[in-house]
Amino acid sequence: MILPTWLLLLSGTALADYYNPPISDGYGNWSAAYEKARHFVCQLTLTEKVNFTTGVGTGQTVGYSNSIIPRIGFRGLAGDDGPTGVRGADYTSALASGMNLAMTWDRQLIYEQNYINGAEHKAKGANSVAAPVVGPLGHAPAGGRNFEGFSPDPYLSGIAFGEAVRGTQDAGAIAEGKHYLLYEQEHFREIVEWNVWLAEEPNITDPYSSNVDDRTLHELYLWPWYDGVKNHMGAVMCSYNQANNTHACESDRLLNQLLKGELGFQGYVSSDDGSQFSGVASALGGMDVTGPGETSPNGISGLGESYWGPNLTLAVLNGSVPEWRLDDMVTRVMASYYYLGQDKDYPELNFASGNFDTYGYEYPEAELGWRKINLHLDVRDNHAETIRKVGSNSAVLLKNSKNTLPLKKPKQIAVIGEDAGPNKYGPNGCSDRACNEGTMAMGWGSGSTNFPYLVDPLSAIQQRALKDRTVVQYVLDNWAKDQIGDVSWQAEVCLTFVSAISGEGYLEVDNNFGDRNNLTAWKDGDAVVKQVAANCSETVVVIHAPGPILMEEWIDLPNVTAVIFAGLPGQESGNGLVDVLYGDVNPSGKLPWSVGRKREDYGTDVLYKANGPVPQLDFSEGLFIDYRYVDKNNIKPRFEFGFGLSYTTFDYHGLRINAVPAVPTASISPSQAMRTTNPSICPHTSLNPSDYTFPTRCTPTRGGDPKLWDVVYRVRTTVTNTGSVAGQEVAQLYLDLGNGTPPRQLRGFQKVMIQPGEHKEVEFELRRRDVSIWDVVKQQWVEVTKLGTDIKVFVGSSSRDVKLRGVIPATGKAPSMISSMVPSSSSRMSSVVPSSRFKVTPTPTH
Ligand code: BGC
Repeated sequence: MILPTWLLLLSGTALADYYNPPISDGYGNWSAAYEKARHFVCQLTLTEKVNFTTGVGTGQTVGYSNSIIPRIGFRGLAGDDGPTGVRGADYTSALASGMNLAMTWDRQLIYEQNYINGAEHKAKGANSVAAPVVGPLGHAPAGGRNFEGFSPDPYLSGIAFGEAVRGTQDAGAIAEGKHYLLYEQEHFREIVEWNVWLAEEPNITDPYSSNVDDRTLHELYLWPWYDGVKNHMGAVMCSYNQANNTHACESDRLLNQLLKGELGFQGYVSSDDGSQFSGVASALGGMDVTGPGETSPNGISGLGESYWGPNLTLAVLNGSVPEWRLDDMVTRVMASYYYLGQDKDYPELNFASGNFDTYGYEYPEAELGWRKINLHLDVRDNHAETIRKVGSNSAVLLKNSKNTLPLKKPKQIAVIGEDAGPNKYGPNGCSDRACNEGTMAMGWGSGSTNFPYLVDPLSAIQQRALKDRTVVQYVLDNWAKDQIGDVSWQAEVCLTFVSAISGEGYLEVDNNFGDRNNLTAWKDGDAVVKQVAANCSETVVVIHAPGPILMEEWIDLPNVTAVIFAGLPGQESGNGLVDVLYGDVNPSGKLPWSVGRKREDYGTDVLYKANGPVPQLDFSEGLFIDYRYVDKNNIKPRFEFGFGLSYTTFDYHGLRINAVPAVPTASISPSQAMRTTNPSICPHTSLNPSDYTFPTRCTPTRGGDPKLWDVVYRVRTTVTNTGSVAGQEVAQLYLDLGNGTPPRQLRGFQKVMIQPGEHKEVEFELRRRDVSIWDVVKQQWVEVTKLGTDIKVFVGSSSRDVKLRGVIPATGKAPSMISSMVPSSSSRMSSVVPSSRFKVTPTPTH
């Protein structure tokens, strides 16, 4: 249809004016990449630019593979899932879940595993990795994809996300952080998936909307994205859901104003499969490429239709999308490409996701380009070592009575439960790992990969037990009551395995549509544990699950003497577990969420029944999810956030808190500020660098206002290993920032290895953001001490096991005035540490 010129002009002007145009020019060390990207874009015709932004569908790789530009010999970019390795490939590793990485609380291991992931993607020729995941954050414990991410705590997730981005990109691949934003459950995420594929009633007309206020957005769900952007994340995948009733992939607020404006994101935004719901609006809203390329209004990919492609050309020609926006889209993609140095010796794509044939079509849907598509390169190197280490270092020891663990050459062991053994169909026997057969080492969906092998617990235990001439008996059928009775009666120690699993919404397992229906162990797991415990005086329970499970039915039984939460550890599952069971590795994992006594303890849940044609998820609990809710409501969790035992014990003493003298922030030239900030949310673009004080509304660097990252306080303590074996402790720092914030928020952690009798100094750095809240009126972060608030400081080994307390006084208060702020267990108050500005007191452990 040809529209009259006046209408074209009117619509073009109106839309372009309405949307915010945060055109990035590259700053910091991105400027060279932007330079090259601009040069690249200048060579392209309109249709080439359009082709570039419009993916070609799920071809040889799962993700975005934009059109090759033959005229200038550019092959395009290929991306692949995902968080646990190169999806759909052969001779690649199957990594531990993101949740397991969070359970390690170990920055180095998080970095290392993501480095491996980047390296394997690169070796297979994929330019980008659809990972790491920080959405879902974990609004509800039953959320199907929580295990792909890290933790419902934004600080822990932020640190992990930042390290994961750094690791992936140091290896040379672009990290495509996902899913942005507020994608917190699987039910109702896609229209077709829900109405047709899953044929579930009632029908929906649009994906669900997560509704959240601006402060919660900043302090909780957006928080970790700052860390990703700060660490140069090259790409972001926008999500299926709506946010405050606007599709995430066309949300000017989420993409232009927040991600590209406030956070200063330099890379490109790609759609998820079927998450694009408009052509012009998504382009103006800030989406830069269509990941899978084709789509239809109802989010079905594979139809060969696109909101972009020819439609985008038309939109540019008729003025609905200004050409600068199209240029910006392409520039952003190429800037990431150049920033990662992918123009130099990047391997050719040499695998076809989900297809192990050596020859095939490059574009299978169109049956075009017959060629060698798989070189079957083995890219695993020695990565198994890191995966095993993540497994052992993430295991969380929840209970250990009667000195049951580590095992001491037991005479006879019983291994009980289906979760101890192999899947009878093989480790990759279920499509995208969507089943609960044998041991659970990975969740299902696009976050899965092919196992090159899977060391199940039983095999690893048998191998290790041989060394001690231990007799090993086992029963892998949860319903074989007689046999379970027999072997558990005879054994000295009974290793009992239970599991639960979840995954992505396009697949269903036992009526669980991605999200778990309940928080209990599957396959009658509670009954198995109870039966074993009735016979066996040392029952060790091992749990493989994608999040917390309820364990009230058996946790207090005296014969349940030890419990390990092992998560979803990937290919080295059994080996990592054996390391811990036998004490070769002293457990050091800590819970990245709380274990409640009942489902209601969490305060939040998945919306299972649509409350309208466009389901509405009102996050009315605001900042209070997981332990923040539990703490606020004085609920006694079964195991609190941050909890985890060791085979040794640790003592804390000497809390020292120091303010860090302000250092002038590197000056930002006015022209830089002008280029890189969004005129409509940042009117004073003639900013003088000397006026640039915190907080400001302009954010001319990656990761938001640069002053957010200044270290403003240092908190130090000394941790001593008071036991008889070496071990790692995760020292944790929590703050009470007042002003409606949760009673305790994690704001620091350090993992240290300490020899018996040795003590080590642990230091936490508090950045300005860590002591600030988001002021919705000013649209700024504000330090709470400047609001007259004293910050309460808690240091300990979990969110409830507080060993030391202190106070950071409100601005202007003399240190002497704050002693009355110290909690009144002050009979034990220590004297002020000489170099310290602030009073501290040790508190009894509880
Ligand atoms: C998932 C993404 C994934 C994509 C490609 C989508 O269904 O939400 O996480 O990257 O599929 O497999």
